[in-house]
Amino acid sequence: MYLYLTVRAKLEWELVQAECWALTRCLPDRSGVALPNLASTPASPPCDITRAAYTKQAVRVLLHEPDLPSLYQMLAMHNITAEQFCVQVIRANGDPPALGVAARMAELINGDPCLSVPQVTFVVVLHASGVWFGEVIGKSSRQWCAHERKLYTYSSSLPTRIARAMVNMGATPGQRIIDPCCGSGTILIEAASMGITAVGNDNNKRMMKTTQANLAHFGYTAEVLHADARQLTGSYDAVITDLPYGKNCLCDLDTLHALVGHFATLAPRVILIAGGELAEVLHRLPYEVTTMVSVPKNGKFMRYLYVLEVRTAGAVPKADLDHRQPILGRYILS
Ligand SMILES: C[S@@+](CC[C@H](N)C(=O)[O-])C[C@H]1O[C@@H](n2cnc3c(N)ncnc32)[C@H](O)[C@@H]1O
Repeated sequence: MYLYLTVRAKLEWELVQAECWALTRCLPDRSGVALPNLASTPASPPCDITRAAYTKQAVRVLLHEPDLPSLYQMLAMHNITAEQFCVQVIRANGDPPALGVAARMAELINGDPCLSVPQVTFVVVLHASGVWFGEVIGKSSRQWCAHERKLYTYSSSLPTRIARAMVNMGATPGQRIIDPCCGSGTILIEAASMGITAVGNDNNKRMMKTTQANLAHFGYTAEVLHADARQLTGSYDAVITDLPYGKNCLCDLDTLHALVGHFATLAPRVILIAGGELAEVLHRLPYEVTTMVSVPKNGKFMRYLYVLEVRTAGAVPKADLDHRQPILGRYILS
């Protein structure tokens, strides 16, 4: 049984939840704790979160007790041994700090603690559902951090971490994606760095060159095309893109409609972020909206991220965009 720990980002919280769900099928609560999904098969293997943007740690659960005294008692009975270990305490229940928990745990675990370069990290999560104790078995590599130092970036460039989460919501290593409106290539860089074959396109030649320079800067390769996205052909596992918006890149509703409609010919799954709500645009297109989350931009305005599955002929829609309720089912429908 595994639980996952995420960042507690205030602004991008819905995205944190959506990415964690996409990678682990466990939904974190506000304290950044995604408890084991007891509805799924208990024997399911741990999920690889190395490539995650917002999920920090994967924890193998060793004990789950109602309170700290019970945990101490169980630990004393279990005779747990580890060399060079540390104990991380996460207060996720809103209670005042429980002092001395790490020290007490260290007394009950056999072996030498080591805070500077621990070989084993144990975690105690003080949560409303009880006290969880486990061992960290996976971490995010935070590879996206290095990509923040791109050669070229501009006002509409997507933050690297958001791009990473979008890729994680749409594709897995070994797959093939296209970003039809790639700008400076933020999504392509994240995809390529995870072993996903990425193809980029932009109708602005300057942007295309910027993308090529940014990719080369990090040593990644991706084919970059120069076309109107509505003319693209090919077959991909997913379209992942940041739609044109803002004053440098005006795009009317009809153009957005044509762009997003065309994406359905390229891949069965489309992950896109837009400068506003897309209810008007998606209304008449052949998509199932499986996820919709709001992503504030610089605290100034709201952007919306959608995961769309192309409806197969004859399928009955599970859910449709409801104009009165912009955040569908509080984020996740699938
Ligand atoms: C919001 S920007 C993408 C920013 C990019 N994600 C980044 O991080 O740099 C949208 C891009 O779409 C491109 N674009 C606009 N209309 C297009 C079209 N019809 N076909 C292809 N690209 C288009 C613009 O040139 C712009 O670079």
